[in-house]
Amino acid sequence: MTQADLDDPAALAAADPSGMLAAAAGAGAQARAAGALAEQAALVGPMPDTVVVAGMGGSGVAGDVLAALAFAESSAPVVTVKGDRLPAFVGPGTLLVAVSYSGNTDETLSAVEQGLKAGARLLAVASGGRLAELAEDRNVPLVLVEGGHQPRAAFWSMVVPVLLAAEASGVLRPLRSQVAAAAAALDAEAAELGPAVHAAANPAKQAALRLAGKLPVVWGTGQLGAVAATRFRTQCNENAKVSVVSAAVPEADHNDVMGLEPGLGPGRELVLLRDPPGEHQRDGLRLAAVCEALGADPVVRRSREGPPLARLARLVAFADFTSTYLGVARGVDPSTIATIDRVKAALAAGAREVNSPRAREVNSPGAGAAPRPGAGEAPRPGAGEAPPSGAGEARRGDGRGARP
Ligand code: PA5
Repeated sequence: MTQADLDDPAALAAADPSGMLAAAAGAGAQARAAGALAEQAALVGPMPDTVVVAGMGGSGVAGDVLAALAFAESSAPVVTVKGDRLPAFVGPGTLLVAVSYSGNTDETLSAVEQGLKAGARLLAVASGGRLAELAEDRNVPLVLVEGGHQPRAAFWSMVVPVLLAAEASGVLRPLRSQVAAAAAALDAEAAELGPAVHAAANPAKQAALRLAGKLPVVWGTGQLGAVAATRFRTQCNENAKVSVVSAAVPEADHNDVMGLEPGLGPGRELVLLRDPPGEHQRDGLRLAAVCEALGADPVVRRSREGPPLARLARLVAFADFTSTYLGVARGVDPSTIATIDRVKAALAAGAREVNSPRAREVNSPGAGAAPRPGAGEAPRPGAGEAPPSGAGEARRGDGRGARP
């Protein structure tokens, strides 16, 4: 697909039949609605000793957002868990926030089971499924978000209640005004990056055209830029069906940069997602030195001014629009995630569906490198049990040439 196609409304509509671009354009409204919904849920609670957010993929990113905001202001550590097992410190002083859009993700349900056994205080965010049932059965606070989207298109539906729950427990300072500012920022980004804006004036379309056929290498600065870099990677994975390398500055200067030696060359593009208010004063110099050493001319997007959530919103909007245009430019449907669906279906059906010789070999305990004895694999009491039965998924449901 060419630049002209990205500017042709009929071609865009045909290439994005499930409306991923419309979903990105509606993010501001979604953030406002999520704020109103979370107001109705009983999220109040004592200040926890620790906060753990358990969730996978498009849901688990809500934990990354909370951890990034809490970094600068919370006395309680915030840890994200993207897997079945919770850390050993989880106990009665822990606020465990379980986020699963479908409510049926087996890793998240396993983590919940373990957290409840350890006496953690649970809050659930889901559109339904077994997580919602469990919350209702146990009279646990539940934010029931609107179903019918892909989880990654429900980003703000899940992020906002997680943040408001943290606020209600004293982990974050009052942030309702930040939610409003983020919603306004998302509206403004949609006006700048949306499909009606021609590529000549649209930084997300320009970025997508640069990235097409390349390996995107995306780095973020500060806590918020790091989250946005992860979001950019996962959105390109799912919306554009491409592999992406993501990293955070300044750590990237100490290893990732070597993967780009002797220079970006024809096969890679560097994307910098910068949050200047959250950067160390030397980060700009660090990026300039890297670009000079590599001879790189990166795509650069800045979060600009405002409260943290509004700054993050701008970078997330850029990730969402750019990745969707990239999918369109590549000729793939941004919405579908056939391989994730297939993997989940196989897990739901059990070993019967994972039956090719190679898959059997991969699944065999003796496959590959043998685990070292005592290498942290033995589950603690109550940890890592087999996932609850029937844990299958029911899906409901700037520009070029800027200085770094
Ligand atoms: O984007 C996706 O569809 C995935 O990354 C899902 O979010 C992930 O598999 C977890 O599912 P859920 O969000 O329903 O808990």
